[in-house]
Amino acid sequence: MDRMRRTGGESPPVQPARRQRSGHAPRQDRLLLTMPALLETSLPLPLARRGKVRDVYDLGESFLFVATDRISAFDVVLSPGIPDKGKILTQMSTFWFRHFGDIENHLLETEWESFPSEVRAHDELRGRSVIVRKCRVVPVECVARGYLVGSGLKEYNETGKVCGIGLEAGLTTASKLRVPIFTPATKEESGHDENISFERMCAIVGDDLAAELRDLTLRIYKRAAEYAETRGIIIADTKFEFGIDEHATRGNIIVWIDEALTPDSSRFWPADRYAVGKNPPSFDKQFVRDWLETTGWDKASTPPELPEDVVMKTREKYIEAFRTITGDEPVL
Ligand SMILES: Nc1ncnc2c1ncn2[C@@H]1O[C@H](COP(=O)(O)OP(=O)(O)OP(=O)(O)O)[C@@H](O)[C@H]1O
Ligand SMILES: [Mg+2]
Repeated sequence: MDRMRRTGGESPPVQPARRQRSGHAPRQDRLLLTMPALLETSLPLPLARRGKVRDVYDLGESFLFVATDRISAFDVVLSPGIPDKGKILTQMSTFWFRHFGDIENHLLETEWESFPSEVRAHDELRGRSVIVRKCRVVPVECVARGYLVGSGLKEYNETGKVCGIGLEAGLTTASKLRVPIFTPATKEESGHDENISFERMCAIVGDDLAAELRDLTLRIYKRAAEYAETRGIIIADTKFEFGIDEHATRGNIIVWIDEALTPDSSRFWPADRYAVGKNPPSFDKQFVRDWLETTGWDKASTPPELPEDVVMKTREKYIEAFRTITGDEPVL
């Protein structure tokens, strides 16, 4: 808890970046030399997809799912990366997928020693890769919200609703909702995901699948939130992705894919710092978003380079989120 309070709170005064002296690399370059971030992989395997964070390779019957250290905010990949972020995200997702052992997920193999030798030849992938089932991705992001914040709050302030769900009057920043709500969003190839109504989701994926995914999303969220509460964490909201495994004998199976309850896909707040009406300090990349907001960046042009202290603080926050939620250390 003490540790949480220290890292979850406002940033301690940050050492100003040292000026470059002749003969010395700038501080950031030195940091990257001692703690390099893995920004991109290029394996001699067919690349199925390069997302903002993950490189996905085709292994024939399965995908190799690699989380790099890329970080995105406002749907733009930033520079530099956050050293070890991909390992932390991978290991945290694996923790949650295992925690929900009764819910079908995409993991096929998580043990590095059991990976095919052509993958093990690339030691830089260790700890940040899993082998997963190939699924047809459902083109809707399944979001559950227990608290009002971010795009949900914005929509509520403008319309009194979130994704078509009317909410009582008088709610404000970080208000806890009477019951968690399901607020789907489109999965845009480029640009910003857009919140949609449940009816719109039904039109995209069909009524039955939409209802199943809504119920599943809320079920996972409620159980995850209950667990996180025992660790002193509020999960304000989270985003899931689901896929369909078109199984030869078992038919179409709904599978929980992508990542599970990580700081990239969720808002984690330290419970002891929570107060209605203000944005709690968080363990997610809100920290990076907040820093970007201070720079005057127009969110369209090339984003400013993250300074070393923001990179290191963000790394610490990801590690802290892992520790607090799992009670364990990430293998870095
Ligand atoms: N089991 C799976 N089968 C097929 N595709 C998957 C599976 N799991 C995840 N994916 C897809 O792989 C991609 C993962 O990459 P990544 O998370 O970097 O993508 P992104 O969505 O562009 O980025 P961001 O999550 O930052 O918006 C996503 O498009 C996701 O839908
Ligand atoms: Mg993603």
